Amino acid sequence: MSVFSIEEKINVFREIFGRTPQYFSYAPGRVNLIGEHTDYNEGFVLPIAIEMGISYVVAPREDNKVRLYSADFGEFNEFSLEDIRKSETKWSNYVRGVAKFLSERVLLRGMDALIYGNLPIGAGLSSSAAMEVGAALSFQAVSPFQMDRKSLALLCQRAENEFVGMRCGIMDQFASLLSEEGMALFIDCRTLEIRNIPLPQGYSVAICDSKVRRELVSSEYNKRRAECERAREILGIRALRDATHQLLEEKKKHLGETLYRRAKHVVEENQRVLSAIDALRANDLQEFGDLMKASHISLRDLYEVSSRELDILVGIALSIPEVLGARLTGAGFGGCTVNLLREEARENFEREVKKRYREATGLEAEIWFTRPAKGGFVELFSS
Ligand code: GLA
Repeated sequence: MSVFSIEEKINVFREIFGRTPQYFSYAPGRVNLIGEHTDYNEGFVLPIAIEMGISYVVAPREDNKVRLYSADFGEFNEFSLEDIRKSETKWSNYVRGVAKFLSERVLLRGMDALIYGNLPIGAGLSSSAAMEVGAALSFQAVSPFQMDRKSLALLCQRAENEFVGMRCGIMDQFASLLSEEGMALFIDCRTLEIRNIPLPQGYSVAICDSKVRRELVSSEYNKRRAECERAREILGIRALRDATHQLLEEKKKHLGETLYRRAKHVVEENQRVLSAIDALRANDLQEFGDLMKASHISLRDLYEVSSRELDILVGIALSIPEVLGARLTGAGFGGCTVNLLREEARENFEREVKKRYREATGLEAEIWFTRPAKGGFVELFSS
């Protein structure tokens, strides 16, 4: 669903719930520029929030009920804050999970919420994190508690890990809550220290959706996490963040081929993120693009999370002269690529990529251009 005007938000809410909403909460999706599969290894990442997200139009309730209506699914879902369980209605579990862990810590009020978004679901742009963050901000708006943004993000991650069952790292929730307009968000996933780093003008970030969705994302993702865990144990370190090339070579035999490759990716990807920040600071976008290319190759060959379609999309993008870098983004297997290009090349990029992707795969790629957006927020309806 696209973006509503203020009047439309109020009117649609009234039609559904028969009352007037008080708050509007919004949480953006994210695209990761570089630093893939490093967050759960206590490493470094560099995402941006994007100009697409999930919106909540909300009114507080006097009782403990949470009534939800998803405009995208055309479905209602309802639960009580006194008994929060997993539902068959999958989209509601992000709200339920957040409600469950919030209610263990603070006093929560019930609410009615209309939820809609313009973020493609399951495309690797963090629609899940945006659902969670939107829910957390909405509960905060209707309830008498205040929590800082990092704590809210950690709570949302916990909801996804322990309630929904996807063992994601912290990148997506941090990006959705802590990003600033025009800036990339550097996160040290061990110390949780963040830095907002400006992205120079004159360049565009393009997101290309391969349109391939794979059911195995969650299982393969959890498998990669388990492999990293095993590699860390063998190496005798706290997290793969602490591994070095030298250590990997010494322990190569014990690790075996697969774990060695996974760990090598993590070591080198962390290094690439740090180099990418230096490149941004030096305004050297050529170097930044080269690091993106190297990241893709490593995800394809060492971490083995790419796919034929993602490789094709990256290949087409890199054959366009104004494109500085391209790589798969998010967990991988399907979903999207992220591309850095000169702003003036947008039209040509869109035309070329769509045409040649169609010729190569028979699929229609979807393309969005975005500037780094600001993190989630809440507004009060004035009337
Ligand atoms: C998913 C997870 C993130 C991160 C990426 C891979 O998007 O939600 O935490 O691990 O995959 O970099």
